[in-house]
Amino acid sequence: MPPVRRATQKELEEAVTALRNGDLVAFPTETVYGLGANARDAGALRRVFEAKGRPADHPLILHLDSVRFLPRWVAEVPPQVEPLARAFWPGPLTLVLPRSEEAPDVLTGGQDTIAIRIPSHPMAQQLLTAFGGGIAAPSANRYGRVSPTRPEHVREELGDAVAVILDGGESSIGVESTILSLAGERPRLLRPGSVTQAQLEAVIGPVEVGAGKGSPRVPGSTAQHYSPQTAVAIVPSTLLESRIDTLLRDARRVAVLAQRPPRKAQQGVTWINAGRRLDAYQHDLYANLRSLDKAGADLILVEEVPSQPDWAAVRDRLTRAAVNPR
Ligand code: TXA
Ligand code: MG
Repeated sequence: MPPVRRATQKELEEAVTALRNGDLVAFPTETVYGLGANARDAGALRRVFEAKGRPADHPLILHLDSVRFLPRWVAEVPPQVEPLARAFWPGPLTLVLPRSEEAPDVLTGGQDTIAIRIPSHPMAQQLLTAFGGGIAAPSANRYGRVSPTRPEHVREELGDAVAVILDGGESSIGVESTILSLAGERPRLLRPGSVTQAQLEAVIGPVEVGAGKGSPRVPGSTAQHYSPQTAVAIVPSTLLESRIDTLLRDARRVAVLAQRPPRKAQQGVTWINAGRRLDAYQHDLYANLRSLDKAGADLILVEEVPSQPDWAAVRDRLTRAAVNPR
């Protein structure tokens, strides 16, 4: 993997000026690229929703450089925050907490909670510190699409809507942060990510999974999300070649995301072997889906991934990509 880049002084100044002017700045994080706006500028926040084509009631994550600004945005800091922050911040964990008056309604979707994350990517840290405040940032993709893990993905998808795109290389993790709500009676895992349920439980004890009664909305958890334009189907490994045969017989073009090489030569198939290692698979997942999407296939077949708990985030994103093909 190429080394993570730090921003030059000039890049930082440009980005901070853009944020102060109410413009949008795409920046790297260790999970995926974010589409950043000044979190206290309601006009800039509205531009984020416009650029993404995202419904207004889907709240954004607030990014901070450290816990120092937390009390400003949060009405009450639950006791679990301290041990979680020590274990996972800066890093790929987002906490949903009771919000303070500071947070504009556009940011929180009018809910009484706010999602907060402290990213570890050095360039994200540099930007947050230079800006000196909170940056609201959803993933820098069109609503419902695959998240960007490289600056060129952002350029392709959002180009003109963004004043500055900071190039920090490839996101090292590759899937969005784990979201944990501490705003309800019990801790609740709202979106799986590279911080696993087991890792969270080792720090704070039992964690419930999924949206519960009265728990906040997580639009990322609506069925169809993270989708390429080409339809996606998940297929058990043993059935892969026979499914392909059937599709080829109907003269359909097929693209495949697998964890192994093909067992026989089949013409008209674009095949990516993403391997069996979780880190590498996750790191390349969105870039692989993007390139398979460009292969001109009628269908993307994805070899079913392992059912182990640490594959939960990958399984979640693939399952959503496979729902309701367009
Ligand atoms: O890794 C990440 O989290 C990336 C990088 C850029 O930090 N960001 C990201 O943002 O994935 P986005 O907007 O694509 O996903 C944020 C998710 C959405 O599903 C949103 O509904 C949820 O966080 N969310 C935000 N505020 C919330 C709240 N108050 N309660 C529950 N869910 C919330
Ligand atoms: Mg997103």
